[in-house]
Amino acid sequence: MTTAHESPASEAEISVHWREEDYYQPPAKFIAQANAADPDILGRFDEGHFPDCFKEYADLLSWDAYWHTTLDTSNPPFWRWFVGGRLNACYNCVDRHLATDRNKAALIWVPEPEDEPTRTITYQELYRQVNEFAALLRDFCGLRTGDRVTFHLPMVPELPVAMLACARLGVIHSEVFGGFSGAACGERIADSGSRILVTTDGYYRNGQLFDHKAKADEAVRTADGLGQQVDKVLVWRRHAGRCTSRTPMVDGRDFFVDELLAEHHRAVVEPVSMPAEAPLFLMYTSGTTARPKGCQHSTGGYLAYVAGTSKYYQDIHPEDTYWCCADIGWITGHSYIVYGPLALGTTSVIYEGAPTYPDAGRVWRIAERLGVNIFHTAPTTIRMLRKLGPREPDRYDYHLKHMTTVGEPIEPEVWRWYHDVAGKGEAVVVDTWWQTENGGFLGSTLPALQPMKPGSCGPGVLGVYPVIYDENGNIVEAGSGKAGNICIRNPWPGIFQTIWGQPERFVQIYYAKYCRNPASTDWRDWPYFAGDGAVQAADGYFRILGRVDDVINVAGHRLGTKELESASLTVHEVSEAAAVPVIDEIRGRAVEMYVALQPGTAPTEAIRQAVTGAIEREIGKIARPKNVWIVDDMPKTRSGKIMRRVIAGISNFSDVGDVSTLANPEIVDEIRHRIQSAKLAHGEVPRQLTREEAAEIRSFGRNE
Ligand code: WT7
Repeated sequence: MTTAHESPASEAEISVHWREEDYYQPPAKFIAQANAADPDILGRFDEGHFPDCFKEYADLLSWDAYWHTTLDTSNPPFWRWFVGGRLNACYNCVDRHLATDRNKAALIWVPEPEDEPTRTITYQELYRQVNEFAALLRDFCGLRTGDRVTFHLPMVPELPVAMLACARLGVIHSEVFGGFSGAACGERIADSGSRILVTTDGYYRNGQLFDHKAKADEAVRTADGLGQQVDKVLVWRRHAGRCTSRTPMVDGRDFFVDELLAEHHRAVVEPVSMPAEAPLFLMYTSGTTARPKGCQHSTGGYLAYVAGTSKYYQDIHPEDTYWCCADIGWITGHSYIVYGPLALGTTSVIYEGAPTYPDAGRVWRIAERLGVNIFHTAPTTIRMLRKLGPREPDRYDYHLKHMTTVGEPIEPEVWRWYHDVAGKGEAVVVDTWWQTENGGFLGSTLPALQPMKPGSCGPGVLGVYPVIYDENGNIVEAGSGKAGNICIRNPWPGIFQTIWGQPERFVQIYYAKYCRNPASTDWRDWPYFAGDGAVQAADGYFRILGRVDDVINVAGHRLGTKELESASLTVHEVSEAAAVPVIDEIRGRAVEMYVALQPGTAPTEAIRQAVTGAIEREIGKIARPKNVWIVDDMPKTRSGKIMRRVIAGISNFSDVGDVSTLANPEIVDEIRHRIQSAKLAHGEVPRQLTREEAAEIRSFGRNE
């Protein structure tokens, strides 16, 4: 706690206090079969063995040529891993398993409608489909090594097929989350310079058949407006031979994939041997400005990292049935549904729909039916399953050995339900902390060797050495009870290579803050700034507190405030907008929008709805604000910057902090009174925020 005689602590140094949770030990049965059960592994990956320790991960792959340099630091912070090595990611995920596991299930796809049969795709069948689609991309679309192609695909098996087909050719794929709007997709098409878009006519979610193709037309229009022409739109059909989209096909531009594939029947495409450093894919994430960041991931380093972490942290054996219930449109799905599990030759389950459709037992029925033994999801799903079916798991005869939580901090109460009820107390649980930029896990317990602690992700993973710095770059000691900025002291093979087309921004956002010497080529001078607040307990375990910048994490998905605000400003009556997070029991954080109107405009319900509509259209339903408040003015600094932390305090019924330096301090009480009484009148029951939540709200948008 900051005491009166100390100078005021910066936001990152706010003391945090929480009850130290008790350890949970991994079950003996799990330890007996674990991939990493020998504690020597910790020594093999200690700092003295860096960077060569990662040979252990790279050796899980089949290389066409071995690397000569494990880590090249000559152009920091553009690290290069396994330089000189050559490999093909598709060959590693598909071809090499054929000799022994040709007819083993690679993917099991579960459609949302329960009366539709599951589809099992063996490694042999995957090989066929990937080759045929690769031939189509190469021969019909003219795609070549290094070209980019955008996918806007939901959770259908055609998505991994398309990813692997690109990987086979060395074409860089960029999958945009299916739930995102056509406009968001179009922006990403333009940013990546894709001239091919791969989509589908429709998909099921929550019992509804969505017309997805409609978004493609909007995406093409948006990209065109930004100067990027899309030549071809490839449309997979959700139902064999039948198009469910009411949007007309554009002659000469739109093609049904199944019709085109007929011409590539039995085609075989040689996997292109790629340099380890060639980009494998782009994954866009929100930033603090409107321009999205295309995180560029490498082939060799990335694949080695996801294979290694899938083996030791997901404890995947080839004979497991592994189900990661995330969307492939997020990095979790790329790394831990597709590339990691398939590189290890296991069976990976893909589920099309919503986890609680048609009821809260769906997930557990799938686990029982398929004999899933490893399960991976996010706190938002866990909270929802717990709320809708607190004892539902008891009704199903499934048995998990391993469970993962990822995407946002999990409350210890929710963690315990996951472990005790969902996992029936039989499974080990890992809480994996990482980011789109990172390729794979950064913080987690090693499941057989390190005990679990609810609410903490654990220590840094093998070969990753985190540290907490205060604002001045001083180390915040473990066990000090103080929070700070979690950073990683060293590079690791899964780290992204750059932001596509924005190398200066890459350096600025992730490395400039704590770089000790820009001229140095020693990695020790270039800590990676993750942008999360964290506390380290005396045992070395990290508890992540959330983003320190102005990004709102809704159900594990990062939404940039700037993107939300820009969308609101497309409503012409709106003059100013501010997005703030509100603590939400299900989604973790929800968005609330504050908008001020053009002078002389009367506030109406129609304007509020237009703002919601604009956000859904520009960003997607996931970003739908919980409330849109129309205010006369925003609290601002003297330089005219909106003070989001003040508004966030109002929205969360928490402390707004010091407002004396504002240009218009009087507005604060006015807004508070009006918004909070409206909330109470709507039946909102404010609850006392935890210290960590209050600290997050208080520091929201603090970089302004
Ligand atoms: C942000 C990254 C990486 C896959 C999903 C999200 C938060 C992620 C955890 C965790 C606490 C977590 C962080 C991080 N986060 N995992 N286990 N415990 N917080 O990827 O969209 O890039 O978001 O999610 O704040 O910075 P993302």
